[in-house]
Amino acid sequence: MRNFVLFLLMLTQTKWLSTMADKFDVPERFKSNEESVFEEFNDLAEQYQPVDLSQGAPDFNPPLKLRSAMSKIMFSGDSALNQYTRDYGHPRLVNAIGKYYSKLLNRILDPYNNIFITVGATEALFLSLQTHTNPGDEWIIIEPYYDPYVKMVKDALGVTRFIALKPNKLNGTITSDDWTFDRQELTNLFNVNTKGIIVNTPNNPIGKIFTLDELTFIADLAKKWDTLVIFDEVYQFLTFNNKKHIRIATLPGMFERTISIGSGGKAFSATGWRLGWVYGGAKILSNLRALQTNVVMSVPTPIQEAFAIIFEDELRNFGKSNSYITSFNKLVESKKNYIIKSLTELGMNVIVPDGGYFVVANWTTLAHEANITKKTTGDLDTEFIKWMIKNVKVFGFPFSSFFDKNDKYIGEGGIRFTYVKKEKTLKNAIELISKWGS
Ligand SMILES: *[C@@H]1O[C@H](CO)[C@@H](O)[C@H](O)[C@H]1NC(C)=O
Ligand SMILES: *[C@@H]1O[C@H](CO)[C@@H](O)[C@H](O)[C@H]1NC(C)=O
Ligand SMILES: *[C@@H]1O[C@H](CO)[C@@H](O)[C@H](O)[C@H]1NC(C)=O
Repeated sequence: MRNFVLFLLMLTQTKWLSTMADKFDVPERFKSNEESVFEEFNDLAEQYQPVDLSQGAPDFNPPLKLRSAMSKIMFSGDSALNQYTRDYGHPRLVNAIGKYYSKLLNRILDPYNNIFITVGATEALFLSLQTHTNPGDEWIIIEPYYDPYVKMVKDALGVTRFIALKPNKLNGTITSDDWTFDRQELTNLFNVNTKGIIVNTPNNPIGKIFTLDELTFIADLAKKWDTLVIFDEVYQFLTFNNKKHIRIATLPGMFERTISIGSGGKAFSATGWRLGWVYGGAKILSNLRALQTNVVMSVPTPIQEAFAIIFEDELRNFGKSNSYITSFNKLVESKKNYIIKSLTELGMNVIVPDGGYFVVANWTTLAHEANITKKTTGDLDTEFIKWMIKNVKVFGFPFSSFFDKNDKYIGEGGIRFTYVKKEKTLKNAIELISKWGS
């Protein structure tokens, strides 16, 4: 009897505990969002203090014009600049960005209906996917991809369909231009359930700038199947080797179906300021309103005011040497050239980027040093990076993490490094790598 009571007690306790666990748990659909590998990297980085070229964030200051604009705003005495502003974008900022993109797109934009301001490009992506995805809607994602695309589609209860860029040659100098998608494969992915395709150009991480021909091919499929395009162009102002960034929204019949996303952080070396923008057709942009107020209400007013001031400055200096956008592009191109030359001299093959913040280097030529020849727990590059943080004291990012599980093999030989760092930081990293390679 006594045992029976104990047994009953145990049963009820277990039941109570398991109910507790459910109620205190993150919902099922978010469970795979946890990033265990990266936590491990960060723990190692904390311990070994490597030179960090892993994340796309500059280690130098934003332009003085942006910082002094912010400081003036703070001391202006204009109390309104400390309060809520319009949910969908501060008037002065949407006007400035509207004028700027009217020039770039050669089309007059309505600042209140064709421009939308967000907390970084990340919120722009989140709103775009949440407000355009019904359960089961398919999004086509081009690998290598920016990792949040996949999670955000899943969080919106959508379905991901992948197509990988692959190099069309295996020896000699390989540039990001040599990485292309198979047109038949892309054609086959489109179907009645396709809600849209996400295109990232210049691409993170390989720096590919999609050509007019490629974008036209994608646009024709989007029109044929009447789908949306999310056009992630956060690296639009960093283009090298005389390549030109082409905006898919400028192709015939594409403006109304394209959500184009930009980043103040990437454009003006201020990733912590968390300012992003969207431009596109009035109908699709009005859909974003369904969530903005409930998610963030409005984007911080002083930050929007400061970005308005720098965009007004960019408009006055459009295409001139005292435009930050123009001079920063030149500066970053020289950093990119330096790191590519150095890595190549050290015997690492790189994918030469045409744009963006990153270079992917092939570590396999130096792998014997690290004794990493077969998988232990994770992907080869992940194992290698852990080894590298400990032994070389340089921190890069695994290229395989930009691919879906079936395509990870394409990326396993690569490490992504950012070159948008101080000259001194880049020199330190190269010195450490050369010591190891010798
Ligand atoms: C590069 O690859 C091509 C085709 O696979 C081959 O014919 C050529 O000999 C290779 N060149 C070198 C330098 O390995
Ligand atoms: C690699 O393995 C060999 C043989 O097992 C060992 O002698 C060498 O010290 C190892 N090198 C490193 C860098 O761990
Ligand atoms: C790295 O080099 C190896 C050996 O040449 C090759 O098999 C692999 O595909 C390369 N990986 C990348 C990402 O370039």
